[in-house]
Amino acid sequence: MLKGKKLAVIGVGKLGEALISGLLKKGELTVNEIVGSVGHDHSIERVNKKIDIRMSLDNRETVKGSDLIILAVKPQNMNSVLSEIADVLTPNQLIISVAASVTTAFVQQRLPKQIPVVRAMPNTPAVMNAGMTGLCGGLYAKQEHLQMAEAIFKCVGETVFLDESLMDGVTALSASGPAYLYVIIESLAEAGVKLGIPRDTSTFLAAQTMYGAAKMVLESKAHPALLKDMVTTPAGCTIDGLMELEEGKIRVTLIKAVVKAAERARELVNTQNSSKA
Ligand SMILES: NC(=O)c1ccc[n+]([C@@H]2O[C@H](COP(=O)([O-])OP(=O)(O)OC[C@H]3O[C@@H](n4cnc5c(N)ncnc54)[C@H](OP(=O)(O)O)[C@@H]3O)[C@@H](O)[C@H]2O)c1
Repeated sequence: MLKGKKLAVIGVGKLGEALISGLLKKGELTVNEIVGSVGHDHSIERVNKKIDIRMSLDNRETVKGSDLIILAVKPQNMNSVLSEIADVLTPNQLIISVAASVTTAFVQQRLPKQIPVVRAMPNTPAVMNAGMTGLCGGLYAKQEHLQMAEAIFKCVGETVFLDESLMDGVTALSASGPAYLYVIIESLAEAGVKLGIPRDTSTFLAAQTMYGAAKMVLESKAHPALLKDMVTTPAGCTIDGLMELEEGKIRVTLIKAVVKAAERARELVNTQNSSKA
């Protein structure tokens, strides 16, 4: 799908770097087919220490001649980057924005022509090729554009297509999600420490347990409640632990955390859309 395409990454930071590394590792593209840009001179050196691609500070030059353009700058930089490159873009190019809360409409409104736009919301485990990316297409994105975007993000993990109205939910669930799960791992590890287990062993026990539980859900396709029941022996110790979790309102707390984060993501959309300067 991506063979022979030319990719430009505007903003080779943490995420941009992870995507480029994934594409190179999977052999989807070669270093000669990728160009990147950053905001500061010293960042070129940082990128080139790890990835040997052509780097620039000139976004207009970077996008010229590229088939695919990933916009991986911070949401607050999107407006200025788009106004910088808008008039050199053509409808043969595909724009993929990964900026949190930035809608396809926001991007389209700043482009002079009917250029296809795909919005992607990946998460940090993309760095370990274990990412989860939600994808949706803008007004002019056709099936082939969605497939190309999918092929890119498949290089760093799994992908799912959703309606754009659900992207704030994706941001709150899978993009913010690792933070919630780190708190859970950290808390389980603290519990191990309380019970006398050395901290590094305790963290290992907690993290591998979370990884294993996630693998069970993904690979068995069984409902999580059924998998929980399999661990819970009648009159055993797990049910006592579960009762403590229920008393601490773990379910409603996690649900409210995700809902609250989605509300914040929506607020950020409005802030982005109102700042047209
Ligand atoms: N990190 C994640 O896991 C993740 C997940 C989902 C979505 N996202 C989205 O991905 C985007 C990037 O996040 P990040 O964590 O990778 O941030 P980051 O590490 O700060 O990277 C941003 C990059 O943009 C560059 N940049 C800034 N202004 C620029 C300009 N005018 N032209 C070209 N490049 C410019 C920066 O270069 P300098 O440092 O030289 O200024 C930096 O390399 C954000 O919009 C974020 O919402 C990130």
